[in-house]
Amino acid sequence: MKTQTILAVILGVGLAATASAQDKVAKGEQVYAAQKCSMCHAIGGKGNAKGPLDKFGAKNVPEADIRAWLTDPKAMAAKYKTQRKPDMRAYPSLPKDDVDALVAYMQSLK
Ligand code: HEC
Repeated sequence: MKTQTILAVILGVGLAATASAQDKVAKGEQVYAAQKCSMCHAIGGKGNAKGPLDKFGAKNVPEADIRAWLTDPKAMAAKYKTQRKPDMRAYPSLPKDDVDALVAYMQSLK
């Protein structure tokens, strides 16, 4: 392969990776709406003001913990000593793709 071809391939892979990260965030936003997370949370002033998530991504919560918020919120409420009651509900049956997308969306909130 010529150097130019190799560079073009590297550039192409890089662009594809960026596009798919953005797609994930967009999908996460859809899952957030479909699962009605806004009944208890607010983003951009929309939803339940008691649970703002606008700056959540800036808190750098480990990815495993973001996943655990969706599957075992009681444990996360204890770990992060959150005071709000009732506890968040769990989403044990969300497809993995939806969880991945939600995690990407949560991390994008800065
Ligand atoms: C029944 C109410 C309720 C629903 C529905 C709900 N949550 Fe929560 N969530 C909470 C409560 C309560 C907490 C812990 C206190 C807090 O930080 O608001 C919490 C915490 C979180 C946190 C950690 C917040 C932080 O600042 O550390 C994330 C992330 C989160 N929820 C995401 C979601 C997502 C995504 C959905 C939808 C799939 C969702 N929640 C649905 C009540 C809810």
